[in-house]
Parts: sequence; structure tokens; C-alpha cells
Amino acid sequence: MITEWTTKLRYLPYKEWPKQQIVDIKQKISKSHWRLGYHIQPSTGLLNDPNGFSYFNGQWHLFYQSFPYGPVHGLKNWTHLTSDDLVKWQDHGPLLLPGDKQDSHGAYSGSAIPVEDKLFLMYTGNVRDKDWVRHPKQDGAWLDSQNKLKKIATPLIDEPKAGFTDHFRDPQILKHDGIYYCLIGARKKDDTGHVLVYQADHVTGPWQYKTELKFTNQPMGYMIECPNLVFVDGQPVLIFCPQGISQSVLDHKNIYPNAYVVGKDFDWENFQFIEPSIIQNLDDGFDVYATEALNAPDGRALIVSWVGLPDTTYPSDIEGWANCYSLVKELHLEDNQLYQLPVVENDKLIKKELTTSEITPQSKISINLDEGKRGQVYVKTNRNEELQIRLDAVNGKILVDRTNAGESFATDYGTKRESEVSKGSINVELYLDNTVFELFINGGQKVLTGRMFPQGQQFFVESENVQLQKFQLEKIY
Ligand code: FRU
Repeated sequence: MITEWTTKLRYLPYKEWPKQQIVDIKQKISKSHWRLGYHIQPSTGLLNDPNGFSYFNGQWHLFYQSFPYGPVHGLKNWTHLTSDDLVKWQDHGPLLLPGDKQDSHGAYSGSAIPVEDKLFLMYTGNVRDKDWVRHPKQDGAWLDSQNKLKKIATPLIDEPKAGFTDHFRDPQILKHDGIYYCLIGARKKDDTGHVLVYQADHVTGPWQYKTELKFTNQPMGYMIECPNLVFVDGQPVLIFCPQGISQSVLDHKNIYPNAYVVGKDFDWENFQFIEPSIIQNLDDGFDVYATEALNAPDGRALIVSWVGLPDTTYPSDIEGWANCYSLVKELHLEDNQLYQLPVVENDKLIKKELTTSEITPQSKISINLDEGKRGQVYVKTNRNEELQIRLDAVNGKILVDRTNAGESFATDYGTKRESEVSKGSINVELYLDNTVFELFINGGQKVLTGRMFPQGQQFFVESENVQLQKFQLEKIY
């Protein structure tokens, strides 16, 4: 049993781990009461950012950043998932493995784009020297139609741009008018966060610095992670993770927010948002970060979020696993406000309507509150735990309180979250999956996502003043 996750252990080359480590974690996980039934979760260890979300060779592809040997951040790989429907994903195991010269200390976040008959992956190789100084590399790899992966040994971008620190990562690759671009999250030496744009005629390079992405005039804190430019209903949206952003610029409750800015239009020549909106929270809940976006070939703008936060430990750590993903969500815009709803394919998870107060751990609850009213919903367990949802159609507010929903965690950042919605009646579609909840409010105008870790394993719903419909959802994992 590992009692202390030293740096040495976290960065131990994979081949030096005894096979038994994974067997032991799987054994622990098999007894878990916190595993999920229809959300992506790691087969063992820690899952963080979604990477390489793409449609290629007739299938959806997604990779999860993973440290498989324990529920901590360590030497990361990309673990490969495929799906025919964006709902049920098959886990093919770690594929983009760290440990070469260009990614010696981890295959960090990145993205993917189909190029001819292959999928090109662009990612950050985390490299540290013997003095533990970081030298981030932007690397490439090819996935072929047999799902075989081949890394490119020479970095595509060998070092941060002059004037920037070693916090320089998470390339998002895009193609426009026959030219490839990548967006990179960066921390300048003056401790300000930026998104830099590089360009190339071919994905394998040479890659050249083009410009900085101009998407706001507001100060963005000291670092931007995971930038994603996506076009929604014809308008540009930047989804990103600013670190150290002032509360006066963005009121946020979590350790770091996942945020977005919408432009009226996009100037590709200057990489500039025309009439950018103010910065807004992507999710009003507890645990969303590192969202990855995709303009899919079927015309939809899709996202998937990491439901987990940096520098945060979760109660499931004792079971040898941590974190999960949100459902895949489809984006739309109305008045510069992003609307997010689970992709329609999720409807096939619905098994049957439930008519008793007891619900299944995998349930969908539709909540309606009339205009001018206040109402409550309680998701309770047989161990006296409860998640409270307070709806207020008088002031246009929804409060979610996980204070007594189970084991305490991340309490330094509070145990309640509030969402403001437009006045009028309120509708909430609540997706519950044992230890994750996603609330889609008023057609996805607001989303509130979080984890909870109850001891009870039977769930009940009680309510006051609202109309409820409950459905059992299929458990697919
Ligand atoms: C965001 C992040 C990325 C980085 C990755 C490393 O959660 O810090 O910036 O590439 O995680 O695992």
C-alpha cells in the first residue's frame, strides 16, 4: 500500500510499476459504491482533462488524461476512448504514453484533427531537466485507421515564445482556408495569461508564431489553460481556464474557473474577436474544468468537460480512482449567452418513468416551477444525506447545496452554488449518476455540475411546490 505519493513515485516510468499495482486498484474499485453508470470515468487512478475530441474513421474519439497508478497527478498518458453515439464509450486503455525525450514527464493536454486518412494529435510534452526545470514541447502523433499510434520524435514547437514562461501548453489545432493554426495557453514573464497562435501549412510543421489571440480587453489573471476556439451558430466562442483572474472581472467560486467569451464575429487575419462579450462562467457548479470543444462534421458544436478540479482531492481517492467527465453537450447561442444541453443521443438512456419517491442511482429528474413561485427538491439517501435544490422564480435564482450530501470535500470553496436565470417559470433537467449531478436549467441557459459522495446507496426524491417527472436511466458501465 502506498502511503505517500512522493515525486519519485508519481514520475516512476510505467515499466517500473509492478503489474500488481493495477490489479490491486481494480480490486478496490470493484467494491466501490461511488462508481458511475453512464459517465466516463477512469478505469483506474486519476482522470483529468479531455483531449483529442474528434470524429475520425466513422467513430467519435476522445482521450482522457490519466495517471493510472493512483488517484493523484503523476506521469500522464492519454487513454483512448471511442464511441458510435457520444453516449457509450469503449475504453481501449493508455495509448499516447509518456517517457520519450519529447514527453519524458507526461503527455499533457492537446487536441486532434483528421488529416487525410489519419488523425493527427497535437499535445504538450511535459519535459523536466535534472534540476526539475520544465521545458514544455508541443508534440505531434498520428493515429491510423487501425487505432495504432505513432509519435513524432521531434517537437513541433520546441520552446515557449520569447518573453513567456515555461507555462506554455494545451495546443488546440484548427484548420481554416487550408492553413493549420494552433492556440496555446501561456503565462507571460510579467505574470499575465495569454493565448498564442501559431500557424503551419502542414500539421507536421514548420510551425511559426503568428499572433496573440485578441478576445478580450479584460485582465485574465496570470495563466490561461486549455483554450478552445469553437464556432457556435456562426459566432466565435473561446472556452478557457484563466488562473488568478480577479473576482471583479469574473465572479467565481471554485479554485479556478472554466470561462467563456463570445464574439459577434471573428477576424481570421488578426485572430481577433469582433465585439467580444464580457467573460462569463461556463458552469455555475462545483467541479467543471478543462472543457474541450469540437466543431463536429455533422454541424454541431460539442463540448465535454472534466468534472474535477486542479489541486483538489476527492473522497473516491480512497477507492483508487478520481474524477469523471460530463455528458457530451451541444452548444447554441442566444443573445451572446451560451446554451448547453446533453446531446440528444442521451435520450436513449431513458428506460422508464418512475412513480415512487425512490429513484435509481441513474435517474433523470425533470423539475418545473411556475412563474412567481418558490420550490424545493431534495435528493435524499437512506443514510439521511441530501442534496438540496432551491428554486426561486420570484428572483430568478437556483441554489444547490451539497453541505449534507455525503462526505465533505473542497469545503474551503463553500458547499453551495447559485445560478441566476431569467425571470419566469423555471425548468431544470437533473441528470443524476450516483455521485455526479448535472443540472441543465431553462433549456441549458445555465448549467450547474458537481460531485457528491453519499454513504447511502438508495436514493429518494422529495419536493415542495414543483412539478416533477422522474425517469430511470440505463446503467451502461
Ligand atoms: C489542466 C492542466 C493542463 C495540462 C494538464 C496536465 O487541468 O493543468 O494545463 O496540460 O492539466 O495534466
